Amino acid sequence: MPVPAHSLLPRVHEILRLPRGEQPAAALALRDALPPGQEAWNSDFGPGSLFTAFSDSTLARGLYEANRPYLRFTGPFRVIEVGGGNGRLWRGALPASARGEIVVVDPHPRGADGVRVEVPRGVTVTHVREPVESARLPDADVAVLSLVLHHVPGRDRAQNRQHGLARAGKLDALARVRAPLVLVNEADIHCDVDLAPGDTVLLERLCDSYVRRFGVAIAADHDAATRDDSRARLATILRDWALGQLDKAAVPLAARDVYELDVPRWLDLFAAAGLRVVDRRFTDPYMLFCQYVLSPAG
Ligand SMILES: C[S@@+](CC[C@H](N)C(=O)[O-])C[C@H]1O[C@@H](n2cnc3c(N)ncnc32)[C@H](O)[C@@H]1O
Repeated sequence: MPVPAHSLLPRVHEILRLPRGEQPAAALALRDALPPGQEAWNSDFGPGSLFTAFSDSTLARGLYEANRPYLRFTGPFRVIEVGGGNGRLWRGALPASARGEIVVVDPHPRGADGVRVEVPRGVTVTHVREPVESARLPDADVAVLSLVLHHVPGRDRAQNRQHGLARAGKLDALARVRAPLVLVNEADIHCDVDLAPGDTVLLERLCDSYVRRFGVAIAADHDAATRDDSRARLATILRDWALGQLDKAAVPLAARDVYELDVPRWLDLFAAAGLRVVDRRFTDPYMLFCQYVLSPAG
């Protein structure tokens, strides 16, 4: 049966029928055949942005939904949220009667704006405009780190130094948040500093997550979308955030942007940070995003 011109999922499935070693080149060929996008990765979190289209996706909705049970408070509360994005995580999460404070830690100048729009009037939102690795933060009831720790390279300064990066690492970031409950949402992708540029394992890991899982999920949402503007943004996400991520296998470490871990490596990191895993689960049918519910050990 001929594939409708606007369908992307069959084109991604065609790639996945190839031997795994041939898939990256085919994925980049599909990327080059799609119309280029104009928006730089993680630059815009406004209503018409790619991030907002992503936050409406099946992948993101599953993740945000999984946080809800942990964001119910019986009295005034304080939450630290690291990386506010467009605030969509908070949409419908709190009752109208909620009273409390959300401290958003985000170096983006508008990093708390989206959260402010999404929470009830009785909830104050304050913005700490700094990267979490250097921020001084108050104690909180809950800390939420959703899709943000992957922006921080490596385990710690020592590991980063070994790889030529003068930056704090994920353990330094986790040490900044103090709360009895810590929610971390991250994808199951190994692409951190221990995989060097040009390593074929890195390319394979990126293909596994960004093409075989992220790519398939976004292409499926694209094909099911009924609005032209959503479809256009999902096609750009597929092009630049999914297939285009394969380019990151060759760029210098400092330009990689995303330094993810797979599930076993995240679990090792949490143990090293002194955090006990209370619960964890994949939150989408593609087994890409995982929610970790953590609590200080001892
Ligand atoms: C992918 S968005 C995730 C937004 C939101 N937490 C969610 O789950 O939808 C990442 C956010 O983290 C912020 N960010 C990036 N690096 C950061 C850092 N080192 N410390 C704190 N926030 C950071 C970005 O500006 C952006 O708002």
